[in-house]
Amino acid sequence: MINQFTDNQNGEKKRSFRPTQLRIGEVCVNFPVVPAPMAGVTDKPYRDIVRQFGVEPTFTEMVSSEALIRKNCKTFELFNTAREEWPLVVQIFGSKPDVLANAAKIVENEGAAIIDINAGCPVKKIVRQGAGAALLKTPNTLANIITEVKRTVKLPVTLKIRSGWDKNTINAVEISKLAEDSGIDAITLHPRTATQLFGGHADWNIIKQVRKHVKLPVIGNGDIKTPEDALRMFKSTGCHAIMIGRASIGNPWIFEQIRTFFIKNEYQKPGLEEIELTGITHFEKVLEFYGPRGLPYAKTVLIRYVKYLPKARESRNTIYSLNSPEDIERFWREYFSWLKQRRNQQQLEEENIESNCS
Ligand SMILES: Cc1cc2nc3c(=O)[nH]c(=O)nc-3n(C[C@H](O)[C@H](O)[C@H](O)COP(=O)(O)O)c2cc1C
Repeated sequence: MINQFTDNQNGEKKRSFRPTQLRIGEVCVNFPVVPAPMAGVTDKPYRDIVRQFGVEPTFTEMVSSEALIRKNCKTFELFNTAREEWPLVVQIFGSKPDVLANAAKIVENEGAAIIDINAGCPVKKIVRQGAGAALLKTPNTLANIITEVKRTVKLPVTLKIRSGWDKNTINAVEISKLAEDSGIDAITLHPRTATQLFGGHADWNIIKQVRKHVKLPVIGNGDIKTPEDALRMFKSTGCHAIMIGRASIGNPWIFEQIRTFFIKNEYQKPGLEEIELTGITHFEKVLEFYGPRGLPYAKTVLIRYVKYLPKARESRNTIYSLNSPEDIERFWREYFSWLKQRRNQQQLEEENIESNCS
């Protein structure tokens, strides 16, 4: 990590922050701020959108190793564009070392750049199978999984964990050391326990502890909502990279804002024109990828872009009520035209106030 002093326009000294690029196997992460794997969110359309903002690598959502070895078609849809999307990280979950190893081989053959093993998902139907965060309770199984997967594929293999199963069994440091000894190539930590789900706060101090105890690249994750949070995560934990999940939903600008903030100490919010275009592009990409069956999901995607805009609730209800992509696109244009008119009107009023005051 490099801290530099730069002069801004006023001749003041401002500190810029340049995180060191990260290498995981063949994959060079030039700017180590990456999107998180998120089920129901980080599909190909989402990945295409964030890649437009210079984000690399991108992650799939978690993919079932059992479904993969049964050659389930829907499961392949989650990552079968890996070659054109290189470098794509495909995350797999399961509890059986041989099944995960076979699944990893399939993923490698499809052109993934990195395989990520999920040992953090707290969802009941996953942990009931002994997978996801349940692996934090069975370190030997986890070590066997890592060893088997590493033995089977040539690709780098990374691991994503939570801080432990519950507040009485926080073991992220032990798990990270064991993963390092088993040959893992990098580790992502979301420092909440599994029983915490998304409650409370992510305890970044645990990221700092893991960073201290292993030589592996450590990717810090959890509760980064703004560029200021991103900087704080790097500085307070010493992590090599950061990962952003929820704050990027309907807000792919967060990645660009972080990059700008690190250099200039300031960043801009996206303009209405950018939100209009990016939202509708994402909507169209969803329809292109899933076909007409994707319409209900495409509506959800679009709505995420207007969460904080005026009349968000009304526009959400209208979008849900419309039944054709054409009607939705027409409404989108009209809604943004109204927003832009409103903005221009406000600007005019502000200018008038200023000129009257001077
Ligand atoms: C809708 C949703 C789906 C998620 N799916 C996955 C997943 O498939 N695999 C995974 O490792 N984590 C998953 N996560 C957890 C995120 O990767 C991330 O660890 C968590 O959201 C904390 O980061 P954030 O505070 O930046 O959102 C999911 C989170 C959300 C909100």
